[in-house]
Amino acid sequence: MKTLVRGGRLIDPAQGIDAQRDVLIENGFVVAIGEHLDASHARVVDATNAVVAPGFIDMHVHLREPGQTHKETIASGTAAAVAGGFASVACMPNTEPALDSAAIVSEVVRRAEIAGLARVYPIGAITKARAGIELAPYHLLADAGCVAFSDDGATPRNARILRNAARYASDLPHVFISHCEDADLKGDAVMNEGGPSMRLGLEGAPGLAEDVIVARDLLVAADTRKAWHIAHVSTATSLDLIRWSRARGVPVTCEVTPHHVVFLDDRFDDYRADSKVSPPLRAASDREALRNAVYDGTIDVFATDHAPHGLDEKAQLLSVAPVGFSGLEIALGGYALAFPDLPLARFVTLLSTNPARILGVPGGTLAVGSCGDVSVFADRAWTVDARLFRSKGKNTPFDGMTLPRRAIATIVEGAVVFEHGRVLPRDEVPA
Ligand code: DOR
Repeated sequence: MKTLVRGGRLIDPAQGIDAQRDVLIENGFVVAIGEHLDASHARVVDATNAVVAPGFIDMHVHLREPGQTHKETIASGTAAAVAGGFASVACMPNTEPALDSAAIVSEVVRRAEIAGLARVYPIGAITKARAGIELAPYHLLADAGCVAFSDDGATPRNARILRNAARYASDLPHVFISHCEDADLKGDAVMNEGGPSMRLGLEGAPGLAEDVIVARDLLVAADTRKAWHIAHVSTATSLDLIRWSRARGVPVTCEVTPHHVVFLDDRFDDYRADSKVSPPLRAASDREALRNAVYDGTIDVFATDHAPHGLDEKAQLLSVAPVGFSGLEIALGGYALAFPDLPLARFVTLLSTNPARILGVPGGTLAVGSCGDVSVFADRAWTVDARLFRSKGKNTPFDGMTLPRRAIATIVEGAVVFEHGRVLPRDEVPA
């Protein structure tokens, strides 16, 4: 099977390429990059006036399977991924049951293969059932396909357990990923603590709830020398702590989400839960710090924290409605909106080169011999209509907004799985 991506502007930071180039993929791998490559016997993807990049990798999604398939399935989540321009996703272990055994992880991998859309990389739990007590079997989880470990939103309370976990997994290259929120400092917060929460009389989570766990986990990383990744950074102090740690040689990387770099904590006047998320949307000074940190290189990754929920669930009272919303299908546009003047090479680095390196997964470059995963995107304005999402989660604070960038085509292992607004599972792709 041959696929030719023709006529686009190829941006591959790993090779230092930013030029008009065709990309030829054969049997799942890149076999040539050049001008006017021969299209005979190839499926041609027209990338005229578009950017061609190594396949985007979202290292933070929630696919809800097993256990919460009314919110999302691996099939619907990976359809959303490829429609949003992502060739790969790494899925968090907060499923039911959690991704804490080889059998469950193998089943996720198998279902992703059946779906035949994006590559799916499970993230294994750090503790069994994410309960913070007993360590998960990291080596078995790694053998079953896990690429990283995290207890996701169930931040382990016990630093001794976390330290033991990092030591036990020390011979694995797998990064530990921290969702940093101190449950006691957070309490029953529904939003950020600040002027808006006080005015509305709602309980807010202070930035401190994030900062203390970032500090703790980075110190554990320094002590154990385990590679560590801080998920969805949302405060200025977290960024300072990350810089402080890096200056001391701690192997730490970090990510942002589209919502934290676009929105503020001023979206709760109607007491609705549409913008309720963990960690919460913050004040302008934090958003400013996050934006600056993208420009100055502190932030390594653009993730989504795609967290689909049913519309009925999000319509509940703010105090009980679940946290999060869909992110895969707005991410390219959301990031382009927040960073209109970010060089495209940096945009691609944050969405592909860096996540591939941090997770140690295929891709991140289109060098000859690498995997044939490609994201084609363009600066074409479009208006978000969440009802049209492939994701089962039809909720996003970006709904109704006009965004400046969108996915044009997504190719996974040489198969065109998204083009002309249509999602095409691999086995339906014409030869
Ligand atoms: O808002 C969030 N929702 N943040 C998380 O970390 C978890 C996620 C979910 O699973 O719904």
